[in-house]
Amino acid sequence: MPVTTCIFDAYGTLFDVAAAARIAAAEPNRQEFAAKWPQIAANWRAKQLQYTWLRAVSDTHTDFWRITQDGLDYALEAAGLTTPELRERLLALYFELEAFPEVPLMLEQLKNAGLNTGILSNGSPDMLKGAVNSAGLADRLDAVLSVQSVGVFKPHKSVYDMVGQHFDCSPDQVLFVSSNGWDAAYAAHYGFQTVWVNRADEPTDRLPAKPQHTMHDLTDIPELATSL
Ligand code: LAC
Repeated sequence: MPVTTCIFDAYGTLFDVAAAARIAAAEPNRQEFAAKWPQIAANWRAKQLQYTWLRAVSDTHTDFWRITQDGLDYALEAAGLTTPELRERLLALYFELEAFPEVPLMLEQLKNAGLNTGILSNGSPDMLKGAVNSAGLADRLDAVLSVQSVGVFKPHKSVYDMVGQHFDCSPDQVLFVSSNGWDAAYAAHYGFQTVWVNRADEPTDRLPAKPQHTMHDLTDIPELATSL
């Protein structure tokens, strides 16, 4: 079936999760953080994701803003940098993350082609609103769907079910786009047509399904979506 609906993961896919640490590292009087920020940012993201999976399998859900703070606290302590001011600055920057440069035009092209557009994210509604508004994307997205309404994180099936429930479409009418290899794999397993945005040239995750398409960034999404 032709694609009617393009759905995007948020963090790492539309929004640059490394931007918070990168911007803070360039600020005055942050020499120690500037020397360690790539490792801290990677650790922050890795712990954040691990905590989502652990909370999903152990039935101990909490909101993604709590998880984001827990991951940051772990990463800062591991680096020996626990000043409250740095923590608050990183969280403020994370709340208003930058979109990748190709995102606004790509979403506009999808809307001009008559497709539905949306986000499906672990993010809490407040976080997603902060990022969407600061990136100026609100008028290019038909829906911002947060896992908060189902109370479990990706890749639980009930999260992917939210798309069909909202847009009244079947999985094969959806093009799902994620930079997280595991998210793209489980979206493909669910039955979505799937793109893995592999910005960092990582190996393919060994999981029950593989994404049908791989790209380096989001530029060619409209061309693909209208050709399927
Ligand atoms: C999200 C995370 C997984 O936006 O990137 O759902």
